[in-house]
Amino acid sequence: MTYENILTEIKDGILTITLNRPKQLNALNKAVFTEVESIFTDIATKDEVKSILITGSGEKAFAAGADIKEFANFSVEEGKELSANGQRIFKIIETFSKPVIAAVNGFALGGGLELAMACHIRLASDNARFGQPEVSLGVTPGYAGTQRLTQLIGKGKAMELLMTGAMIKADEALKLGLVNYVIPQGELIAKTEELLKNIMKQSPVAVAGVIACVDAYYTDGVDGFKAEVKEFGKCFGTEDFKEGTDAFMNKRKADFPGK
Ligand code: CAA
Repeated sequence: MTYENILTEIKDGILTITLNRPKQLNALNKAVFTEVESIFTDIATKDEVKSILITGSGEKAFAAGADIKEFANFSVEEGKELSANGQRIFKIIETFSKPVIAAVNGFALGGGLELAMACHIRLASDNARFGQPEVSLGVTPGYAGTQRLTQLIGKGKAMELLMTGAMIKADEALKLGLVNYVIPQGELIAKTEELLKNIMKQSPVAVAGVIACVDAYYTDGVDGFKAEVKEFGKCFGTEDFKEGTDAFMNKRKADFPGK
């Protein structure tokens, strides 16, 4: 597939996905979703890709939400379909077995914040702004913002942000636990890559297990404690486990085969 709204680059095992509609503040239209899904089911699954970084082009926006102009005249059915499709694609990101980090370089509003929240970790530049302004448009969030914001920052604060539609600055997002670090804009990508490289030094099999176990905590009807027993046990049959324990005992750095 050729990508018209997204740039991709693979370097040192990191696939960088750059949302590239800067004139529309990287608003997420249908075409963007189709391209994101294709990237996560194709390029991102390749062996040379060990981790994924998602950011927005330009210095102003990560993504300013779903494309309002595109859905303004939708029917009830079309609205439901838009939401279900967005949720489905963001779930692919959330449950992706390789680490996915959002480098939030500006506005992350509505669907843009929902995309960032579907990633495993978020870093923000100091000019980033966060919010779920959907109520100001007469609509609720549709890409699981009500769920993931509540999971990440707790019910009271999530209710406030969701009901007021207020925008918060990066330092407040940091205090709330919505992002892990706030960094000067010029250093955001380097810092995000550094974090990904630290993760990539660990066992990919164990990292994938961690993602699965943490997701289990948030999955209805799944017992996360049992999921952990299963993932833990599975590790004992892997080459990564043999390599990791052997490296420890022989006082050397592990070089994980990733299987
Ligand atoms: N959809 C479509 N176009 C958008 C957009 C969006 N979400 N956000 C910005 N744009 C467009 C603007 O229409 C404008 O285009 P034109 O030049 O063609 O008019 C361009 O991007 C630049 O935007 P502004 O001139 O508005 O820039 P600003 O600096 O004055 O304001 C902003 C920036 C505060 C982010 C403002 O653009 C804004 O409020 N955007 C909308 C944010 C929003 O409401 N997001 C939620 C969308 S709904 C949603 O996401 C639903 C869901 O959960 C599924």
